[in-house]
Amino acid sequence: MQTIVFPLPGNETLAQALRDNLSAELGSLKLHRFPDAESHVRLASAVDGRRAVFVCTLDRPDGKFLPLLFAAATARDLGAAEVGLVAPYLAYMRQDRRFRAGEGITSTYFAKTLDGWIDWLVTIDPHLHRRSALSEIYAVPAAALHAAPAIAAWIRDAVPNPILVGPDSESEQWVAAVAAAAGAPFVVLEKTRHGDRDVQISVPHLARWRARTPVLVDDIISTARTMIETIGHLKTAALPPPVCIGVHAVFADTAYADLKAAGAGQIVTCNTIPHASNAIDLTDLMTSAVRDIGTEARIPSR
Ligand code: R5P
Repeated sequence: MQTIVFPLPGNETLAQALRDNLSAELGSLKLHRFPDAESHVRLASAVDGRRAVFVCTLDRPDGKFLPLLFAAATARDLGAAEVGLVAPYLAYMRQDRRFRAGEGITSTYFAKTLDGWIDWLVTIDPHLHRRSALSEIYAVPAAALHAAPAIAAWIRDAVPNPILVGPDSESEQWVAAVAAAAGAPFVVLEKTRHGDRDVQISVPHLARWRARTPVLVDDIISTARTMIETIGHLKTAALPPPVCIGVHAVFADTAYADLKAAGAGQIVTCNTIPHASNAIDLTDLMTSAVRDIGTEARIPSR
């Protein structure tokens, strides 16, 4: 079956790389905002009988989500045999329980909505904290790929004598995997979040790692408060400026500049959200997953 890869706006580089790796066609999708701010989506390439793959990373998701749904729905309506989504960053994964009375569990609602329009999903390190697998909320086949091996390879090449630091217990799953693959020791701190930008970190004995280069590893860098707080503790313990590694470069508002100003020695992210700090390329990982999940997910009756 012929595969056609459509980038949503801002995802052209990754879509082209996937197209090259998959020997697929690059689709043309025209997105227009009407004066009343409604979205108009047009697939300017034929999808009939084809496998349509949409590439749309979902940071800042609210403005991207409806055009994406319209594009997927249009592809199905126009006879695509299969509709897949590569969303390297998957939004709304952190609201995974009712933290306060009256709140919605938006990760579930988001998943249910996407489920209605796609046949499969490929993403990287979704924030699975209280849930262990995407299949708990997504009904379609969903591949959650791991950046840890690529991050470990980068650390092995670029950082002599590292000590990996996870800023909170949620980060332990990533830090432990990266540390094992990089052959480095790791510590995990304890975090209490009091508000969107109010984070408190408690610290184990860091001073004994002074001879090493600290490498902070987290899945998401959003406001960067988690990393900034951690850097403060590293400074107090007289460790060298850390390398800060995030899988997903969300960087809300001035977060990137704030993190630099707080004393990050180097800031490195994966190419799941286009950003100047992208240094770890996960395109090949995503390519393999698109090949594999496509084979599993081809359900002619859908
Ligand atoms: C926590 O749930 C995540 O793993 C990250 O630690 C968090 O998203 C980082 O957020 P921020 O950069 O806003 O502190």
